[in-house]
Amino acid sequence: MNNALEESVAIEIPPILKGKKVLISGLANKRSIAWGIAQAMHQAGAEIIFSYQSERLKGEVEKVLSGSIDNATLVELDVGSDESLDSAFATIDKEFDGKLDAMVHCLAFAPRETLQGGYVDTLREHYALAQDISSYSLAAMARKARPLMQKAGGGSIISLSYLGAEKVIKNYNMMGIAKAALEAGVRYLAGDLGVDNIRVNAISAGPVKTLAARGIADFTTMLNKHAEIAPLKRNVSVEDIGATATFLASSMSNGITGEVLHVDCGYSIMG
Ligand SMILES: NC(=O)c1ccc[n+]([C@@H]2O[C@H](COP(=O)([O-])OP(=O)(O)OC[C@H]3O[C@@H](n4cnc5c(N)ncnc54)[C@H](O)[C@@H]3O)[C@@H](O)[C@H]2O)c1
Repeated sequence: MNNALEESVAIEIPPILKGKKVLISGLANKRSIAWGIAQAMHQAGAEIIFSYQSERLKGEVEKVLSGSIDNATLVELDVGSDESLDSAFATIDKEFDGKLDAMVHCLAFAPRETLQGGYVDTLREHYALAQDISSYSLAAMARKARPLMQKAGGGSIISLSYLGAEKVIKNYNMMGIAKAALEAGVRYLAGDLGVDNIRVNAISAGPVKTLAARGIADFTTMLNKHAEIAPLKRNVSVEDIGATATFLASSMSNGITGEVLHVDCGYSIMG
């Protein structure tokens, strides 16, 4: 039935996060995957705190939220800095009365040089930076979120990955290595935190034209190829990803942890 190449239509989200306190990171602009997730979780009834990377991005985040999600709390969080993690989570603790039900880790970074040519040419400092921001940050944020989720009686942590973690995807290079580490991290964190009823999962999303994606050489070719090959014959939308993230944040997914769920219109199953 769905043979269109364009993105899917709006999805009806039931109020499954009513009264839940959620931290969403990675909102940069209206194209961000974090925005799709935020809209779905807002519709589901969640109370949301948004973290933004730096003062430079704050204005754009306020602009995106204005008229859609008013009066949301914004907190600066650069995951490359322990001081920033400390101060952001102190604010979140205060704003949310010590409790957090769900956290969305929706950020990554690799220097542009590593997203073209071959992985073989990756410099040591570029490797370290990409791993630090894109993979280690999930553990760092989970450690800070843990006491707040313990107070909430449990929680759900959701990260974003891509097929390049599992398969060689042209130009994805360094980010593929970082996402492989991220996905292994999801499993280890799920192993650590299950005792506190904290679940940790990732969504492996199909390609979406965002600011971060524009850093990958030849991204449009990747998008076209996905839409052509995927069983659903289209690319995934941020609404698709937002709906799945909402499900993973809710008690409807209570038995799921340590998983990497493909939200890619089926692309990854094709031979
Ligand atoms: N766009 C895609 O095709 C695609 C596919 C699968 C997975 N993902 C993943 O989705 C997530 C969100 O990316 P996006 O595509 O929405 O792009 P985006 O550019 O909208 O978001 C990336 C975010 O990472 C943040 N960030 C980078 N360095 C940071 C730091 N040091 N501290 C805090 N935040 C930092 C940026 O500020 C930005 O908000 C990333 O993990 C990305 O790898 C994207």
